[in-house]
Amino acid sequence: MFGDMSGRQPLLQVKQDPRRPRRPAATAALRNQVLLVAAGLALLAASLVLLYRRAPRQAADDASSEEEQRDSERELQLLHEQPSSEFCAQPPPLVCAHGGDAAAAPPNTAAAFRAALDGGARCVEVDVARTKDGQLVVLHTRELTQLLKLAGGSASSAAAAHGAPPPQVGDFTWRQLQALRWPGGEGVETVEAVLHMVLPGTDHITLDVKTYGQAGEEVDEDAMAQAVVDLMRRTACRQCLVWAKSDAVVLQVKELDPQQAVGYVVLNETAAARAAGMHRLLRIGSAEVVALHYAMAADAAITAAARGARKQVHAWTANTAGMMRSILDAGGAHAVVTNHPRKLQAAIDSRTRRCRQQEQQEERQGKLHQQQSERQQQQQQADPG
Ligand SMILES: *[C@@H]1O[C@H](CO)[C@@H](O)[C@H](O)[C@H]1NC(C)=O
Repeated sequence: MFGDMSGRQPLLQVKQDPRRPRRPAATAALRNQVLLVAAGLALLAASLVLLYRRAPRQAADDASSEEEQRDSERELQLLHEQPSSEFCAQPPPLVCAHGGDAAAAPPNTAAAFRAALDGGARCVEVDVARTKDGQLVVLHTRELTQLLKLAGGSASSAAAAHGAPPPQVGDFTWRQLQALRWPGGEGVETVEAVLHMVLPGTDHITLDVKTYGQAGEEVDEDAMAQAVVDLMRRTACRQCLVWAKSDAVVLQVKELDPQQAVGYVVLNETAAARAAGMHRLLRIGSAEVVALHYAMAADAAITAAARGARKQVHAWTANTAGMMRSILDAGGAHAVVTNHPRKLQAAIDSRTRRCRQQEQQEERQGKLHQQQSERQQQQQQADPG
């Protein structure tokens, strides 16, 4: 899927193509089956809605659960309804579990990755940060802040009170991070340990390389790129894609290993991002993937332009039903990153079934029209004038 990457296995395996071969007209038995399936689907959708509404909330300050709370029943319903023709015209996107399954366990923990695999995710996204002493760990700044709070860390609350930047992974040694625990007992993992865990069960792994260093400073980008390339070699991760907000890291990884698939982050949301040129869609020619912010991935003209330039489009990070729907309706994304992989996969599956139903209906109507016009022709021939 990444074009000319000789010897690499396809990074995106599409399980089902909505444009499958045509079938003969439905018999009465088949129609009954379709009705049964439709009733089953309605039940499934209803229970999914219930399930998500009742799902236990993570820590109250978890942004993703706030987003999920904003999902109205109507939005969830729309997510499963009436797919756009753009959605039906392309193979459905791959669902990438961001930090594992955040609905099941704290993000980026072994339990979250296990839950994502158990839930059928074939793609995971792993947040990669570098400790003060050079260990690559799976940890987001947001989670570090939460872990420090749980440990009763006065440093993070003091920093927050003074409006100082939150502590970064690069402020800590690997040993210090190993002491931090979530309430369930889960701790911080190395990237290598997580890769060994998810490699056998996935088709695709995205490493999102973070470059925040010790409070305020940028991390040494060359050292980061080298550490990532070394890790890719050690783990022989053929289905790994490396992306970063730092173009320097992306370019350096590609230079160190031209065979490594890379992506760059495209984002227009803030003035700072636009001033840094991060909104420019086609700025790294050698990269295989555009990691597109969800607001831009909802614009069909943008995804089409990226695809036209032979880039794969990976949209991030769609957590609400509204975000998911706008990305799916725009079409053009090869993969969509989310904290809620089961919710997104369920929506994609029900939409894909609706595409098939629409197609079958159109087929039946087409046949009916054809029969009618044939009959008319026969009548005209039998009774000219
Ligand atoms: C970013 O791009 C999207 C898609 O074109 C657009 O709808 C949105 O308004 C843009 N956001 C900003 C802040 O420019």
